[in-house]
Amino acid sequence: MRRLVAGTGWKMNNGIADSIRYAEELKARMRPIDASAIDVCVLPPFTSLSAAAQAFADSPVAVGGQNMHWEDDGSWTGEISAPMLLEAGCRYVELAHSERLLRFGETYAQVRRKVDKAMSAGLTPILCLGETAREKAEGRADQVLAEQTLTSLGGQPDDRVPGIILAYEPRWAIGAAEAAPPGYVEERHRALRAILREHHGREAAERTRIIYGGSVTPENGRPILDIEDVDGLFVGRAAWKPEGFARIIELVADAARRKALDVARTDGG
Ligand code: PGA
Repeated sequence: MRRLVAGTGWKMNNGIADSIRYAEELKARMRPIDASAIDVCVLPPFTSLSAAAQAFADSPVAVGGQNMHWEDDGSWTGEISAPMLLEAGCRYVELAHSERLLRFGETYAQVRRKVDKAMSAGLTPILCLGETAREKAEGRADQVLAEQTLTSLGGQPDDRVPGIILAYEPRWAIGAAEAAPPGYVEERHRALRAILREHHGREAAERTRIIYGGSVTPENGRPILDIEDVDGLFVGRAAWKPEGFARIIELVADAARRKALDVARTDGG
């Protein structure tokens, strides 16, 4: 049984003071929620990381960066390294968000080096994958997902793969009016798990979390979470306020209980 994930990337929102306010309100809203069976993370901007990590220190919420460089230090103006993220209190790092790829020219060849560095440094990478509207229209979504996955995970031993969280984020559904339809999400997540199985073996494929992101809301999250191969939600706008993220966390915690019951039923019968 895979541990479900509720995550939010704040993008360029929430400076230090707002991050602390967010943390205090989220912790209060989480008090009645049993989130012990899931992993919860927030990804603030770099300057807020340390304050957010301190504000969440007495809670189950972990903190992560939204990007990092593949070297530990050196002449890389404007960049942040894995040791710096760790020192700021991070446990996660988001890699290959489509805004990084499309607006800042990052490539999956660079992402591969970042995944490798994050893994050796002890950070959990949240690796974003997803096709464009055009690739979808051309019927190439699964081929694109395979290329992105194999490039990013190239060289990783099979037993390290489950330490990486894959985030399926169709680019046409990010910042959009609606999430991808559940049936479409189901096909892509199944395809991603098949890619993992083919290249990294059955065990790695079964243990690796694959979460969905792209216009998730508390309203549309449940049918997506009910899909067998969906192991959590990765949320932007709908979780930028603590109230919204608390509702997402509750949805994911409920889904974890339903999935555990299903597993128990299958094992029992
Ligand atoms: P959104 O963002 O939920 O606002 O669509 C998702 C993302 O960029 O990961």
